[in-house]
Amino acid sequence: MSRDTLLLGQTLCFDGSPFELGLGAARHDARGGILIRNGRVLETGHGAALRAAHPQAQAEDLGDALLCAGFIDAHVHYPQTAIIASWGKRLIDWLDSYTFPEEMRFADPAYAQEIAGRYLDLTAAHGTTTVCSYGTIHPASVDALMEAAQSRGQRLLAGKTCMDRNAPAHLRDTPQSAYDDSKALIGRWHGQDRLSYVITPRFSPTSSPGQLSALGALWAEHPDLLMQTHLSEQLDEIAWVRKLFPDARDYLDTYESHGLLGANGLYGHAIHLEPRERDRLKEVGAALIHCPTSNTFIGSGLFDMAGLVAAGQRVGLATDTGGGSSFSMLRTMAAAYEIGQLRGTPLHPAELMWLATAGSAEALRIDAHVGTLAPGKEADIIALDLGSTPAIAQRSARGDDLWEALFPTIMMGDDRAIRAVWIAGRKVSGKAS
Ligand code: GUN
Ligand code: ZN
Repeated sequence: MSRDTLLLGQTLCFDGSPFELGLGAARHDARGGILIRNGRVLETGHGAALRAAHPQAQAEDLGDALLCAGFIDAHVHYPQTAIIASWGKRLIDWLDSYTFPEEMRFADPAYAQEIAGRYLDLTAAHGTTTVCSYGTIHPASVDALMEAAQSRGQRLLAGKTCMDRNAPAHLRDTPQSAYDDSKALIGRWHGQDRLSYVITPRFSPTSSPGQLSALGALWAEHPDLLMQTHLSEQLDEIAWVRKLFPDARDYLDTYESHGLLGANGLYGHAIHLEPRERDRLKEVGAALIHCPTSNTFIGSGLFDMAGLVAAGQRVGLATDTGGGSSFSMLRTMAAAYEIGQLRGTPLHPAELMWLATAGSAEALRIDAHVGTLAPGKEADIIALDLGSTPAIAQRSARGDDLWEALFPTIMMGDDRAIRAVWIAGRKVSGKAS
């Protein structure tokens, strides 16, 4: 058994969702501590008390930094790392001009390995300890990311993107090969260490009805798995879906009628929903994944966070790298705040922090393992520097309470705000304070 670790600093714990419980869901201790044993949180509490009770633990004092759960990014495309921030296109043109040519490069497993490592380095530096990622159509793209996460001891969810139409020839599989390759990847990776496989049809425009049915059948064989896809992101896309599936009641029906709607479904974007789609998503208990920097960057629209959460929908938060314009969940929270403002429903910093940690964990159904600092959870932890730039520091110094001191970092912070990161209790990056 390795020696216990005691992290000391400000601590932020959530006992529930601030959307349901208000600010009482959050516990802040200006001199808190987190005791870690064998890669898991053993106890949180007052720093001095924990130190006195556990004198043998190796203490690390983070000073005024804010210790909280690592960020969980619920929808990303790691293969788009190198084309993030590509100019001037909307969704369909953006896919054709930038995304598909880049994803073709993943036919080379060495390139996939290079980007997988680069992506996990970049996200860790931004305080993200778990992502749920799309691969490309190449099974080796999933192997590369799974191997990279496994060697880092990191929790990861990922799947092979399936497409058999409306994509370049070299980026198309078939209904049968999508089923076979996905099934083989499930056998190879699902449940190994901290890794989970996610069944991944890209979206209805790039899958034939036959492919959607094949993946629906695969999901029925593995109902415990998550299934991720895109839903109602842009109006042009929705009009295209209507043409491709003239008999469907709406966009969601193209999934529902092929066995691809369920409680373990993750639907990225979900901006322009019809009343029936909202009702069905709520009824089955699916998760909607909000990708705010992507929605402004690609010009998709304004997600109805307040309305959807109030209606009881399950919602996670995500960058949607590289349609999203940042690897940072801080930037992502800022964009979610701004979209809330444009809709007249600003989000509180407690709600934003909860969404980026426990909320995404609940959406991904990994909240038994990560997302909070509760005893027994895997010790994926970050230390946020609340004065990481002169501009942030001077504003934060005016803050009378935690939320006022933290909000400038949410709005103006980036990887410079990430003082240190622990994955399963092991420090993976840190800066001199
Ligand atoms: N819809 C289908 N594929 C994609 C993608 O890669 N990014 C985004 N933002 N939307 C999509
Ligand atoms: Zn996406």
